[in-house]
Amino acid sequence: MLFGALCYQEFIMSGSENRSFYITTPIYYVNDKPHIGHAYCTLACDVLARFKRLDGYNVKFLTGTDEHGQKVEASAEKAGIDPQAFTDQVSQKFRDLTEVCNFSNDDFIRTTEERHKKACQKIWQVLEDKGYIYLGSYAGWYAVRDEAFYTETELTKGPNGEKIAPTGAEVEWVEEPSYFFKLSAFEDKLLELYENDPSFVGPDSRRNEVISFVKGGLRDLSVSRTTFKWGVQVPGNDEHIMYVWLDALTNYLTAVGYPDEESEDYKEFWPANVHMVGKDILRFHAIYWPAFLMAADLPLPKRIYATGWWTIEGQKISKSVGNVIDPLSIIEEYGLDQVRYFLLREVPFGKDGDYSKRAIISRMNGDLANDIGNLSQRVLSMVFKNCEGKIPEHGEFTDADKVLLDSVSSLHQKLRNEFDKQSFHKGLESVWEVISAANKYVDEQAPWALRKTDLPRMGTVLYVLSESIRQIAILLQPVMPQSMERMLDQLNLPADVRQFSDLTTPLASGLPIDKPQGIFPRYVEEEGA
Ligand code: MSP
Repeated sequence: MLFGALCYQEFIMSGSENRSFYITTPIYYVNDKPHIGHAYCTLACDVLARFKRLDGYNVKFLTGTDEHGQKVEASAEKAGIDPQAFTDQVSQKFRDLTEVCNFSNDDFIRTTEERHKKACQKIWQVLEDKGYIYLGSYAGWYAVRDEAFYTETELTKGPNGEKIAPTGAEVEWVEEPSYFFKLSAFEDKLLELYENDPSFVGPDSRRNEVISFVKGGLRDLSVSRTTFKWGVQVPGNDEHIMYVWLDALTNYLTAVGYPDEESEDYKEFWPANVHMVGKDILRFHAIYWPAFLMAADLPLPKRIYATGWWTIEGQKISKSVGNVIDPLSIIEEYGLDQVRYFLLREVPFGKDGDYSKRAIISRMNGDLANDIGNLSQRVLSMVFKNCEGKIPEHGEFTDADKVLLDSVSSLHQKLRNEFDKQSFHKGLESVWEVISAANKYVDEQAPWALRKTDLPRMGTVLYVLSESIRQIAILLQPVMPQSMERMLDQLNLPADVRQFSDLTTPLASGLPIDKPQGIFPRYVEEEGA
């Protein structure tokens, strides 16, 4: 088992694989404050970015804000301030969220930055020069809320006879001169892409939706607007500003230095490994974006993954319902790592999920306080009290010891497999199976009884458990960075041996440990809460 793990490690360290990893979140509209749904997508990217860094990759993790478009212009107007001042304010809230949630993004892009304008105008120019953009006029339905165009057949009637897009957004009739992108020319190429590379869109259920949308026929896409001003100007025609989605999608290139295709970052990180997006914006990423890139002769991202949506206590998150949860308030209430763990463990990634107080408390008290918290607290307390505060020596391992140690050392590869498919819940499930096995092993081996009968065996049992805790804590760092840092600190493990490549170097006997403190307290509800 251990030998197998080493071989794999050597294989991937041998440079036979590309060791860079570029992951992006959607860039968030600044028409509103951040809520838990926004934090969710960035959290998933943060966990993958941290995981890959610990696994020896050179990582670039990008997030940011989408600041142009009619919706943002209207929100600024409503707030009575100019759009730039408005976007400065709201963008800062998203930046603050990255701090509060301990997100490890390497860059934070704003689409109002000069570097981005340059990238947008360049990609436009390339598309135009290659004959994929032409001037025409648009007459059709537009939903400002989605910043998206819809065909008549996609619409339904609302309660007051108004026309409604499939997303529930109201549409308005728009007639104006417009540039078009020849999306229709990419139908076959896109279908070929989905066919040849089944992992391009995940999860599979969403991939099928994308395929049937494209099979339904693609019309050329209106890519400029003339009826408002808040956007990037079309090169050579200042009457037009770019359609906000062409502008927004280009952020992924801007951040790696485009249009400079010789820049270090571009060469290292493009194409992106994963664009993580919400299910509502998959169409833009899995259809428009690869079509733009193919038209510009640029390499395509490797994977687009669509997350599900969160509801709160069964209801859609909405300002009018008044249930918009500020991520800061739940982090204050339950703790950051508890919220991070809950969001990724509770719901199969890719599916919709419901946030409820009951559900988070049950995860905190069950998985965290009882399972991992209790395991580390009771084991390290016994080591501290009964082994002179040092990791004990171990004797020969019994079958039971080997079973536990083998299951712990298989976790790294299991997590890699699951996290590479964005199956965070499954990865975590497999860690918790081992945590339960470790707790069962404590009960069966009863080291407190061995203390009176067989001290060397007690030492071996506590060694096996401490070593298991070390590996589990190293592996869980991406999900709960602060708590796992504390756990590893309690083991007195130096900061420079907490990488995944250190998993195969067993804990040294004789290492002094600190007096353990509980890391995951039980959540006790206050009377009347
Ligand atoms: N600006 C565009 C994205 C451009 S990417 C080139 C946008 N912004 S958004 O702010 O409206 O949404 C950003 C992300 O938040 C989307 O992926 C969306 O799915 C996600 N969420 C918004 N509400 C959500 C939930 N209730 N639950 C989970 N994710 C949610 O679209």
